[in-house]
Amino acid sequence: MNLMMLPRANSDFICSCCYAVIYVLVVWLISRVVLKVLSQSRGESMKTTVGVPPGNRSLPLIGETIQFIAAINSRDGVYDFVRVRRLRYGNCFKTNIFGQTHVFVSGPESAKMVLNNDSGKFTKRYINSIAQIIGDQSLLCASRHQHKLMRTRLNGLFSSASVSSFIRDFDEFTASTLRSWEQRGIVIVLDEALKITFKAICKMLISEENEDELERLQRDVSHVCEAMLALPFKLPWTRFYKGLQARKRIMDTLGKMINERRRGIKDHQEDFLKHLLTQEDKTCDDDHGTPLLTDDQIKDNILTMIIAGQDTTASAITWMVKYLHENQEVLNTVKAEQILLPKRNSPASYLTLEDLSDMPYASKVVKESLRIASIVTWLPRMALEDCQLEGYKIRKGWNVNVDARSIQFDPTLYNDPDKFLPARFDGESKPYSFLAFGAGPRTCLGLNMAKAMMLIFLHRLVTTYEWKVIDPDSSIEKWALFPRPKNGCPVHVTPIGNS
Ligand code: HEM
Repeated sequence: MNLMMLPRANSDFICSCCYAVIYVLVVWLISRVVLKVLSQSRGESMKTTVGVPPGNRSLPLIGETIQFIAAINSRDGVYDFVRVRRLRYGNCFKTNIFGQTHVFVSGPESAKMVLNNDSGKFTKRYINSIAQIIGDQSLLCASRHQHKLMRTRLNGLFSSASVSSFIRDFDEFTASTLRSWEQRGIVIVLDEALKITFKAICKMLISEENEDELERLQRDVSHVCEAMLALPFKLPWTRFYKGLQARKRIMDTLGKMINERRRGIKDHQEDFLKHLLTQEDKTCDDDHGTPLLTDDQIKDNILTMIIAGQDTTASAITWMVKYLHENQEVLNTVKAEQILLPKRNSPASYLTLEDLSDMPYASKVVKESLRIASIVTWLPRMALEDCQLEGYKIRKGWNVNVDARSIQFDPTLYNDPDKFLPARFDGESKPYSFLAFGAGPRTCLGLNMAKAMMLIFLHRLVTTYEWKVIDPDSSIEKWALFPRPKNGCPVHVTPIGNS
């Protein structure tokens, strides 16, 4: 019925009725929310009395969100939020962030139980806003069943042939970047590492080599990374909104690329995208019966691999350069190993997979850098049913975070955990004591590439330059997704032989 056609008195009467109904609805909704909050906090406070982990849940709904955000915005980095509470409450504690209960555990046994997940009681869990930014089809956000199928499909991309060709490209980019340092004298290691890793990963994934396109893409990827820790307010000036806009641009670019490849444009390029599309061209499942990825899954996972691979590796390289400078004895040992590497065919030749497996001490330097830097500080999961961890009750629906950093600094697992001692890895590590790449079915897919990138950078740097860190400040960059030095680690480089 059209309101405009009614006599005025009737329409006034109907409007008044509408307002009354809306009023009653609003009052009803508000009282429901208030009652829910009250009953939740009453229920929780009754539950917390028996057997649940210690911790301060603070205010209803908000919990300790403000303290969490303050830590993200501090020079000590977001991990400080966890560190302080672990010191106060011990190996297992509980908090409330963004309206959800989070438990942090830091024992190798708990790590095994949660990450290996033999019991099927845990699933990967990121807060909703992260799924919106990175994409709900991303491997990082997928449910257990969906994850298994996608992981099988993506795992095929990381063959030794593709790692070998990646090593070749990464070495070429690193060598040419390091040559350009000679004229500059002072460089910011983080910026250089971000550029090289981004270039190499984009070539491997989508064969993008155009400098302008890469710059645009890299800008958008950093907006996406910044939005992952932001409050999910979709207002035009917020980090979250800017991240969503950047995600949209990246998805559009990837969508265009997929269409071009289907139309036969640039379809000869050997990259992960071609591999995923070629498999997709088959009319039925592949030999192993794994379902094919949809366009949305391909796009979300290409973005995931850029984010998971670039920032992490560049930050790890930066910390490694800083730690080596602070530990000259280690530097001299690794330099001796690298300079003595069997000469390759010609000076212009590039490193191979075999060369990298012939670097025992450098590999330990890489591992020790990853332990101390703890790039992924905790590994997030969610309890699918009630269970027990560290002797405490964990309730279904709670977020359970394995505190990898704490485990990697546990003095019962590592002597002098604060010292940079690559030789500590001469023997086997204790199970679940080294979690830089996670463990279990969600172990990092790119770990071989990450280690290769760190080894190549290390080799090129120590065989080409001597360097001095010119600002030793170790403050963490605010709002960074992974811990990295705020100053990016500025160094003064001198070619070997000129010093
Ligand atoms: C130093 C560099 C890196 C570090 C420290 C690192 C660390 C990690 C960690 C700890 C996880 C497991 C997270 C969890 O269990 O919750 C993970 C997962 C993942 N990483 Fe890496 N990563 C690095 C480099 C890379 C690279 C180079 C790629 C690919 C190009 C990559 C791709 C992935 C993917 C796709 C996953 C999700 C795996 C899954 O959920 O099945 N990472 N990474």
